[in-house]
Amino acid sequence: MTDFNQSLQDLRESYDQEPLRRSMLAEDPVVEFQKWMQQAIDAKVYDPNACSLATVDDSGRPSSRAVLLKGLDAGRFVFYSNYNSRKAGHLEANPNVSMHFPWFSMQRQVTVLGEVSKVEDTLAEEYFQSRPYLSRIGAWASSQSQPLDSRETLEKSFLQAQQKYGDTPPRPPHWGGYYLHPRSIEFWQGGPNRLHDRFLYQRIDEQWTITRLNP
Ligand SMILES: Cc1cc2nc3c(=O)[nH]c(=O)nc-3n(C[C@H](O)[C@H](O)[C@H](O)COP(=O)(O)O)c2cc1C
Repeated sequence: MTDFNQSLQDLRESYDQEPLRRSMLAEDPVVEFQKWMQQAIDAKVYDPNACSLATVDDSGRPSSRAVLLKGLDAGRFVFYSNYNSRKAGHLEANPNVSMHFPWFSMQRQVTVLGEVSKVEDTLAEEYFQSRPYLSRIGAWASSQSQPLDSRETLEKSFLQAQQKYGDTPPRPPHWGGYYLHPRSIEFWQGGPNRLHDRFLYQRIDEQWTITRLNP
C-alpha cells in the first residue's frame, strides 16, 4: 500500500453525539431542518447554508456542485442560479435533485430530495436587488458554465457590465431561483461506536411519516 493510501486509511474520526430520539423531532421536517440550520449557524460552521446540489442530465448521468440555500418558503428550499447554466439545463430535462448539507464539524448531515420549479420573477427580483453591487454586476459578466478563453476576458466583461449598467444593474433575464419541493428529508447524526442516528421523513399524501433507519 502507498503511504498516501495508508494515511487515508488512518484518518478516522470518532463520533460522540448524544443519541437522537424520535420524541425530540418536530413532526414537520422543515421545522426540524430550521432548528438544525440555526444550530449550525450558532456553532459557527463555515458557510452553514452551503450545500451540494446533485442533478442528472438527460441521459441520467449525475453531477453535483455547491449552491447556497437562500430561504425556506412555505416548506420549500430556495436557491438562486443562472438559468443558462449546466445545472439549469439538467433541471429543464429532469427536475429531480438531491440537496446535501454537510455539517461534518457537527457530526451531522441532512439530505433533501425532491423536484424543483422556478421561483416567481418578483421573488428573484427582490433577492437580486438585495445582493451586493459587485455580485449584481458579476451576474451580467459571467456566462456560467460556458467555456472561457482567459481570466482577462471575464474581467473585461465585468468592466463592460459596470460601464453599461452603472450603479443600478437590472436583474439579468437569465438569473433567477428555484424552489425545491421536498419529497423526503433525512437527518443523520454521528454517535459512539458507529451507532449513528438516521431519521427519514417522507411526504405521503401531503402527510409526513418518520422512519428510523439503520446507520
Ligand atoms: C460555497 C459555494 C457556494 C456556491 N453558491 C452558488 C449558488 O448559490 N448559485 C450558483 O449558481 N452557484 C454557486 N456556486 C458555484 C457552483 O458550485 C457551480 O460552480 C456553478 O453554479 C456552475 O455549476 P454548473 O456548471 O453545474 O451549472 C457556489 C460554489 C461554492 C463553492
